[in-house]
Amino acid sequence: MGLHRWWQVTLVIVCLFSSSLVEGLKTYSDRKSLDSFLRMQANEEIKNPKTGVLYNVSLPSNLTGMEVSVVRLRSFSLWSRGMNYSFFNLPPRIMSRPSQKRITILYENLGNCSSHYYNVPNHTMVAPVFGVMAYSSSESALVDEKINFTIHGDPIKIWFPLADERGRNHTPLCAKFTDNGLVKFKNMTKPYVCEVHRQGHYTLVIPSFPFPDELHTHSHGRRFTTWWVLGFAIGFIGLVVLGLILLALVMEVKKRKIRKMEKNSAGEELFDTFWIGETKLPLASSIRTQPILEN
Ligand SMILES: *[C@@H]1O[C@H](CO)[C@@H](O)[C@H](O)[C@H]1NC(C)=O
Ligand SMILES: *[C@@H]1O[C@H](CO)[C@@H](O)[C@H](O)[C@H]1NC(C)=O
Ligand SMILES: *[C@@H]1O[C@H](CO)[C@@H](O)[C@H](O)[C@H]1NC(C)=O
Ligand SMILES: *[C@@H]1O[C@H](CO)[C@@H](O)[C@H](O)[C@H]1NC(C)=O
Ligand SMILES: *[C@@H]1O[C@H](CO)[C@@H](O)[C@H](O)[C@H]1NC(C)=O
Ligand SMILES: *[C@@H]1O[C@H](CO)[C@@H](O)[C@H](O)[C@H]1NC(C)=O
Ligand SMILES: *[C@@H]1O[C@H](CO)[C@@H](O)[C@H](O)[C@H]1NC(C)=O
Repeated sequence: MGLHRWWQVTLVIVCLFSSSLVEGLKTYSDRKSLDSFLRMQANEEIKNPKTGVLYNVSLPSNLTGMEVSVVRLRSFSLWSRGMNYSFFNLPPRIMSRPSQKRITILYENLGNCSSHYYNVPNHTMVAPVFGVMAYSSSESALVDEKINFTIHGDPIKIWFPLADERGRNHTPLCAKFTDNGLVKFKNMTKPYVCEVHRQGHYTLVIPSFPFPDELHTHSHGRRFTTWWVLGFAIGFIGLVVLGLILLALVMEVKKRKIRKMEKNSAGEELFDTFWIGETKLPLASSIRTQPILEN
């Protein structure tokens, strides 16, 4: 095997390892691309939207099971009356930041696609993932830039339908998926109701292991584990690469030596012959051929 062959092998191994690392980060980037896809889909599909009218966004077949609706509201209307839709209750006295004349609210029910995009380490999701997202709205785009809610009255309430019967036997917790990929937990305020203060994605979870006391250490532990795994993987890849380089070097040196020896033996007699009186006897070669004869 030539040196370039070894490089090919090394490259393949490195690629395999990095792809398993990327796999771990994939769900997170999937969420972002889902968000931007829904935004684009709503803008393409709903031309000339009427303010205050709720529109369903139709989705491609690979998102069957998900429900997405969008509504554009006057900020004053949201402030004075709030907005109820489906499982979401937006009470009065909600404003946007930065302040807008009109804001667009995008409601998401990820349905049975929830676990494809979201998961909570060491917990089981017992409800679908719901999203309530606030966007600015412009002449050209119904769903424009992401903005924040600021809540001056009651918080937003989300009423979750249970999707998993285990949520009835164990009291679920509200889980919020934060922008940096971590999960925050909070108690429900009423059965299956979460109160939230920001736009974002939420669900209900139950611990999938019997140590609920460990809840508050989760985000820290998770970050630690991630770094540990990352460090280990990088170290391992480094070792593999180093080993392969060394191996390639050793092979190359050996090959050169053999080539040199072959060249030498072509020209002159070597040490595996010796003389007894007038007779030249091959020594090493006769010993080397013996195992072949035995076979
Ligand atoms: C939107 O979808 C929901 C659920 O699929 C349905 O109940 C509702 O009638 C739809 N609304 C419109 C305006 O099509
Ligand atoms: C759905 O499938 C289409 C191809 O059919 C692909 O382009 C698109 O990215 C997929 N969307 C999502 C959100 O997976
Ligand atoms: C979700 O359920 C629908 C039927 O309601 C089905 O067509 C779709 O394939 C399911 N999607 C997933 C990801 O399981
Ligand atoms: C929304 O629902 C709450 C009760 O859940 C009700 O008090 C409120 O008046 C409703 N708001 C609108 C705008 O329908
Ligand atoms: C919304 O709030 C978050 C956290 O407070 C902040 O990082 C982000 O920049 C805000 N977005 C806008 C558009 O103000
Ligand atoms: C939920 O409430 C219990 C008391 O009922 C408390 O011990 C626990 O810390 C709370 N959990 C969270 C995440 O707020
Ligand atoms: C999940 O639980 C196990 C065992 O209790 C723990 O070692 C691990 O750190 C937890 N994982 C996360 C991401 O919190």
